[in-house]
Amino acid sequence: MTPLSAMTIRVLPEQLVHQIAAGEVVERPASVIKELVENSLDAGALAIDIEVEKGGAELCRVRDDGMGIAADELLLALARHATSKIGSIDDLEAVRTLGFRGEALPSIASVARMRMISRPRAAETAHMVAAVDGALTGPAPHPHPPGTTVEVRDLFFNVPARRKFLRSERTELAQIERLVERLALSRFDVGFRLSSSRKVLADHPPARDERARDARVAAMLGDDFIANAMKLDYEGSGLRLHGWFCLPTYARSQADQQYFFLNGRPLRDKLIASAVRLAYRDVLFHGRHPAYVLFLEMDPPRVDVNAHPQKLEVRFREPGLIHDFLFRTLERALAETRPTQSAAAAIPAARADWSLARSGFPTNPYPLSPDPSSAAGQQVSATDLPCSR
Ligand SMILES: Nc1ncnc2c1ncn2[C@@H]1O[C@H](COP(=O)(O)OP(=O)(O)O)[C@@H](O)[C@H]1O
Ligand SMILES: [Mg+2]
Repeated sequence: MTPLSAMTIRVLPEQLVHQIAAGEVVERPASVIKELVENSLDAGALAIDIEVEKGGAELCRVRDDGMGIAADELLLALARHATSKIGSIDDLEAVRTLGFRGEALPSIASVARMRMISRPRAAETAHMVAAVDGALTGPAPHPHPPGTTVEVRDLFFNVPARRKFLRSERTELAQIERLVERLALSRFDVGFRLSSSRKVLADHPPARDERARDARVAAMLGDDFIANAMKLDYEGSGLRLHGWFCLPTYARSQADQQYFFLNGRPLRDKLIASAVRLAYRDVLFHGRHPAYVLFLEMDPPRVDVNAHPQKLEVRFREPGLIHDFLFRTLERALAETRPTQSAAAAIPAARADWSLARSGFPTNPYPLSPDPSSAAGQQVSATDLPCSR
């Protein structure tokens, strides 16, 4: 190793800067797919087609029908810190898109061979740019329907140390499949298709009604999950919690069916895990884990999503309130499922609440309740699923 005294300070070449940044966001093929699909979702896509070869190491291709990128901005999209999603610190605090750091595309392009073809909805023609080993080419006209395709080949071809860390093709593919499940659970209105070497592994058409959403959940978590699931939709303190939670009798030996989304973003967060555990504490045997697919929604400024490079963790501005809301809402919903309650009394009430709660949501997702402490006291709505399929 060179002794420190012999080192000179220098500014790193741009390609190396990108590669260092890539270390944070691009761990494996699944992280490439995650970034590309999030871009498609941010672009308003309603159909997303994902193709991989060799567990994604050879090829990751994501095609969408989103808003597209203008020809004169295609190269810019590959530049570091270039984003269309925020322009000021205020935008950052209120950000609703999944991306905003402007890092994914340049990072991926620095550790793989990338082609991006895009056509804005209003444009007559599509254009392509390519990035190979730091050299950018294009934009050149290229046939493509409205929307965007990003193709990433030979991941880590120029970073042998990273390439060595890739697991077997099967393992990498399994990671991608799990990721696509999470993404598909986060957006029922969007169609997702995943194929590997032209074989379709998952095909989820847009799920526009209750039954279709149940079917999508069942396709991923199994019929047993949905047969043992209760639905919940509750709003208070400007927070909304909705989704599926399983009866304690369906508890699992592993925490493998726990999906939590905050404003459409998959989240693994200690605060949330703790609130859920607390809600189930009296009804679960020791060592058993609840299963759920839950969505929490709140006004974006109430949470700082810029706390983790892959955005898996967030910082809540009112952690105590959020914890309390989750815990009490779920605990209440669980209490309503108890067999000790008179079924005749409990179920119709729950049903009535459910339909009331539902009808209020589509118009205004974030009404603020006047008294934040009132969340705990209000009625929780849970239906008496099993959901019919
Ligand atoms: N699939 C896509 N459809 C439309 N625009 C896209 C797509 N992918 C990337 N872009 C554009 O490229 C920019 C850079 O993308 P990215 O590097 O992922 O940064 P970020 O998502 O944080 O803005 C985005 O802000 C967006 O304007
Ligand atoms: Mg992005």
